[in-house]
Amino acid sequence: MRESSETGSSRGLILGIESSCDETAAAVVRSGTTALSNVVASQMSLHANYGGVVPELASREHLRNIVPVVREAMQRANVTFADLDAVAVTEGPGLAGALLVGITYAKALTFGLDKPLISVNHLEGHIHAVLMEARERSDVPVELPLLALVVSGGHTHLYLAQQQGAGATWTYRNVGRTVDDAAGEAYDKVAKLLGLGYPGGPWIDALAPHGNPRAVPFTFGEIKHRAPREGVTNKKAPTNTEGPRFDFSFSGIKTAVLRYVETHHLREDIEVRRAALAANPLITPKDETVVKLCDQQTLDLIASFQYAVVGNLLRQTFAAAESLGARSIVVSGGVAANSELRSRLQAEADRRGVPIAFPSLALSTDNAAMIAAAAWPKLLAQNFATEGLGATPQLRLGQP
Ligand code: KG4
Ligand code: ZN
Repeated sequence: MRESSETGSSRGLILGIESSCDETAAAVVRSGTTALSNVVASQMSLHANYGGVVPELASREHLRNIVPVVREAMQRANVTFADLDAVAVTEGPGLAGALLVGITYAKALTFGLDKPLISVNHLEGHIHAVLMEARERSDVPVELPLLALVVSGGHTHLYLAQQQGAGATWTYRNVGRTVDDAAGEAYDKVAKLLGLGYPGGPWIDALAPHGNPRAVPFTFGEIKHRAPREGVTNKKAPTNTEGPRFDFSFSGIKTAVLRYVETHHLREDIEVRRAALAANPLITPKDETVVKLCDQQTLDLIASFQYAVVGNLLRQTFAAAESLGARSIVVSGGVAANSELRSRLQAEADRRGVPIAFPSLALSTDNAAMIAAAAWPKLLAQNFATEGLGATPQLRLGQP
């Protein structure tokens, strides 16, 4: 580790930078444990007009935000650039143009400061958001190997994670992933279909308790992997299907909701709701008026959708944990903010006597503290990025 130039002593200070999707974020974290600052500039309201993230707009907003966001993170942490031991940045997966803004900025910064640059996989970051907070609180024992469920708008993955070697380097084995839509994507698409706001997760989370979760019996079939045709690659399919797999599929339930809407003639009510919410853009998912915009049949549909998605995530996670001998479970990513997911996973973990940890709500969604935290073991192992670092939109984490 290089010495901090101003104080002459290393304090393990890492500036993390995250720009993989629609949040420009910067944070300063000490020794992978304490977030001295955590600044997030969200573009959510911008993309809400389009019902999803528009890549060109995201890059432009990152360009606009990156300098003030980093400056604010440094000010709130009360440190100078000279105090930093390293700068960590998200390499992928994510939107190419969005990732490049953070990477180019971090490269220029470390070049100018003559400090090491560390590249971090965004998914590893989500896992370390939980590990960082669990270490700081030291209430949930995170025993290894751990099973990590990373569930967000772009990802649904299960990893078996372990620390190995003298440098205590983290290794990951992917044991489950979605073969089509991510769980958060299903939330967003179903919410849009039902005339609710974007992102859909918080709307469905807030409305589901008002419906009957057993009204519509959605089911999930077993996922079979066909051998790939020669010359055809499916980026989402596992590259190696040896050993037990705990994969997910969420495109079927989205189609089932669409079919329900059509067969139960809900279109007209949906358009009324959409218009009412469009006329009042400041309304939040938890406002009581939102419940009044939904008839009981729609609330039952929403509750049943969430009940089924959470049930599927729960079954796959605990089946994997049991089969692979995981000694603890961590859950992270935007969907980890979901109240039903948290309560049902917690209850099942308690029943089985397996420790389970979730991030605080602030660290569930994209942030840069998780990037700085994931970079800490890499700083200790002097695992630095080269000057040739570029964006890797399809970056995978671990094996296979
Ligand atoms: O991790 P994240 O901020 O960005 C990605 O890497 O995708 O996750 C955003 C996703 C969105 O799909 C959003 O609908 C979902 O997380 N989400 C939720 C909740 N809050 C956010 N899904 C279910 N329940 C929530 N409370
Ligand atoms: Zn994310």
